Amino acid sequence: MKGIPDLAEVEAMDAADPLRAMRDRFVLPEGIIYLDGNSLGAASINVFSEIETAAKQEWARDLIRAWNTAGWFDMPVELGDRLGRLIGAAPGQSVVCDTTSINIYKVLHAALAMRPERSVIVAEGDSFPTDLYMAEGVASTRPGTVLRLEGVDAATIEELVDDRVAVILVNHVNYKSGRLRDMAALTRKAHEAGALIVWDLCHTAGALPVDLDGSNADFAIGCTYKYLNGGPGAPAFIYAANRHHGDIRQPLSGWWGHARPFAFEQGYAAGPGIRRFLCGTQPVLSMRALKGALDLWDEVEVTAVREKSIALTDLFIRLVEAKCSAFGLELESPRRGAERGSQVSFAHPHGYQVMRALIERGVIGDFRAPSTVRFGFTPLYVGYRDVWDAVDVLEDILRTGAWREARFAVKTTVT
Ligand SMILES: Cc1ncc(COP(=O)(O)O)c(C=O)c1O
Repeated sequence: MKGIPDLAEVEAMDAADPLRAMRDRFVLPEGIIYLDGNSLGAASINVFSEIETAAKQEWARDLIRAWNTAGWFDMPVELGDRLGRLIGAAPGQSVVCDTTSINIYKVLHAALAMRPERSVIVAEGDSFPTDLYMAEGVASTRPGTVLRLEGVDAATIEELVDDRVAVILVNHVNYKSGRLRDMAALTRKAHEAGALIVWDLCHTAGALPVDLDGSNADFAIGCTYKYLNGGPGAPAFIYAANRHHGDIRQPLSGWWGHARPFAFEQGYAAGPGIRRFLCGTQPVLSMRALKGALDLWDEVEVTAVREKSIALTDLFIRLVEAKCSAFGLELESPRRGAERGSQVSFAHPHGYQVMRALIERGVIGDFRAPSTVRFGFTPLYVGYRDVWDAVDVLEDILRTGAWREARFAVKTTVT
């Protein structure tokens, strides 16, 4: 076919791939092409040994002593600092804890309290829904708080920003389309209006370089179970710029965020620095899995990941458009690599069935209602040949109409 690489060229791309060896550090089932690392990253071998050590040696043998001897208590800040390297945060500004949803709650409250004369939260109408649900929850506890949405109250975030806005909550990479925002430019715009900004980095961390400090961002939150491969339900993170630490008050004022948690005092006194975003006891085994995942990241530069991510997603778009254009697929992601994250989405009127048929044939992506088939490309374990094979399966399913079988229309709980 004209204009697209042939199989030999695609295999040559794998042979020249500097990240190629990383694939062997993951456990991936035989016969599966995994294009859903933007939802749940794959398991790296490191993770198993970390969990086993934490459970069999530290917990079973050292019991309660392990909080001290194995350093469990300090893991949230230690892992926060290690993760910080991947998101452009100097040490002392990131902490790993709780879930993204809970962290949004804490951070939005903190930001609103820092702008007491203002009452507006700006967010995106097409945000991942939990961000909006949490913003609604925050607003419900603070009478007079108003939520303004891009795509509902105005076409762009920029048009919604004025001197009533306390905080902007925005996704760096949109979960559905993969569209990427300019962090430095929007942060500048927020600050010019006197507002604070919170960046949701769920689809950024481990997928592309980002510079929170260099962009002068105020806050960020995100998960570690997607491109960082921390494991199902892995703890999330919060970033808060150093300059704000003294001003942060957050309402989930549990003992882990206290200045002296083991003094067992009456009355809350916020702890130092980023620790004040902690609430209660953290999931140690999940933290340890994340530690194993981050150990692998010590060997990788995010810039190399980004370079391969753009090449993988470019190849996928080109192959799909060359081989599947007759079958009703419409590109939903930006065509230019520099404008999207590490995923590609297409709309198809029967997207749900098409994705179910793909999964049955071993190509795992996911579906987002009403019509998006979504494919995530994790450069650490996805190769160019995987892209080639996945498109072949997609083409076959569409050309033969295999997706029309009735069983593919039966809805599963998680899509
Ligand atoms: C942009 C974004 N925010 C938040 C979440 C999820 O938050 P939580 O970790 O609380 O389930 C997701 C999950 O896919 C997401 O894509």
